[in-house]
Amino acid sequence: MAVQVQGVIAREKDSPVTLETIIVPDPGPGEARVKLLACGVCHTDLHYRQGAINDNFPFLLGHEAAGIVESVGPDVTDVAPGDYAILNWRAVCGQCRACLRGRPWYCFNTHNATQKMTLLDGTELSPALGIGAFAEMTLVAAGQCTKVDPAAPPEVAGLLGCGVMAGLGAAINTGNVTRGDSVAVIGCGGVGDAAIAGARLAGARTIIAVDIDDRKLQLAKKFGATHTVNSRTTDAVGAIREATDGFGADVVIEAIGRPDAYEQAFFARDLAGTVVLVGVPEPDMRLDLPLIEYFGRGGALKSSWYGDCLPSRDFPMLIDLYLQGRLPLGDFVSAKIGIDDVEAAFDKMHQGDVLRSVVVFDS
Ligand SMILES: NC(=O)c1ccc[n+]([C@@H]2O[C@H](COP(=O)([O-])OP(=O)(O)OC[C@H]3O[C@@H](n4cnc5c(N)ncnc54)[C@H](O)[C@@H]3O)[C@@H](O)[C@H]2O)c1
Ligand SMILES: [Zn+2]
Ligand SMILES: [Zn+2]
Repeated sequence: MAVQVQGVIAREKDSPVTLETIIVPDPGPGEARVKLLACGVCHTDLHYRQGAINDNFPFLLGHEAAGIVESVGPDVTDVAPGDYAILNWRAVCGQCRACLRGRPWYCFNTHNATQKMTLLDGTELSPALGIGAFAEMTLVAAGQCTKVDPAAPPEVAGLLGCGVMAGLGAAINTGNVTRGDSVAVIGCGGVGDAAIAGARLAGARTIIAVDIDDRKLQLAKKFGATHTVNSRTTDAVGAIREATDGFGADVVIEAIGRPDAYEQAFFARDLAGTVVLVGVPEPDMRLDLPLIEYFGRGGALKSSWYGDCLPSRDFPMLIDLYLQGRLPLGDFVSAKIGIDDVEAAFDKMHQGDVLRSVVVFDS
């Protein structure tokens, strides 16, 4: 039976979100219906509501979530009702050319639910990142549910579903940070701080946090920054060089999505160093860099989608590290809020007041 629940809808470009009744169909083949327990508010939800991702309004927002599988379609075997899962936005297909080459984190054919959730009048909804989890229930592809240890509280576990995984993976998977490395992270929001936590977990020796907001720099220390630089008042490239004996950092992670910050990252890396772009730029942004500097320094310029993660490999492992006290995921949760507080949470994000506000549902 289809169910009716409340969901957070962005009806048109740049207008405040509304809480509306939505219809969530019974899961069909390959699908799972999930009862949400918690869902973080990510910058990408705001991008959707501003029309910066695409024009497929109305959107059902929310995508950083954990919940309980409520029911599954006829042929689903990987997950079962009652499973505690983090939702992911890359359910790998196992059959495309990336998957067949053994690089499933690049899967070109990731799955979402086939059936549509709708408003009461039948209008089809576009779920953010194929998830739509600011709702009491949502419909996803079964492969979008990754089982993890239920000992981790949902407001913490859900964060791995997007921004925190993106940052951790930018350091660990894409940047290949290893023991003894020097790492600089430019932009210390939820994603940047997760990159800092990932660099610490991987054994980095020097971790330089760069931001224009001193409050963010204070928080960055909590996640493992050994040096902080306010780039509003201090030259970031010079400060990163100074903290690395004049050489520059082995890995520089840009976690904002701005050409000026990327340029700082480019010039702040050591010879043979790596730049990782995890911040999402806007479509009209351009870069102008001296090609000879890229050639001369060697190394690599990379971008990181979802931290090059493989949910089935990374989510359960990172949750275990959290439960062992080795990964402070709880420190990303600035506030627990209700489902009717999403618009206010966007404002707080804009003001730089929070790392993550997390919607928690009554269970
Ligand atoms: N690649 C991915 O898969 C992925 C996943 C999730 C989010 N993201 C992107 O990562 C970026 C960061 O997300 P977030 O949730 O941490 O955002 P956020 O707004 O919480 O953090 C951005 C930080 O950058 C700082 N900042 C802004 N301008 C700056 C400048 N010129 N120099 C230095 N610091 C500056 C801000 O003070 C803030 O602390 C966004 O672009 C988001 O869309 C990427
Ligand atoms: Zn694939
Ligand atoms: Zn996100």
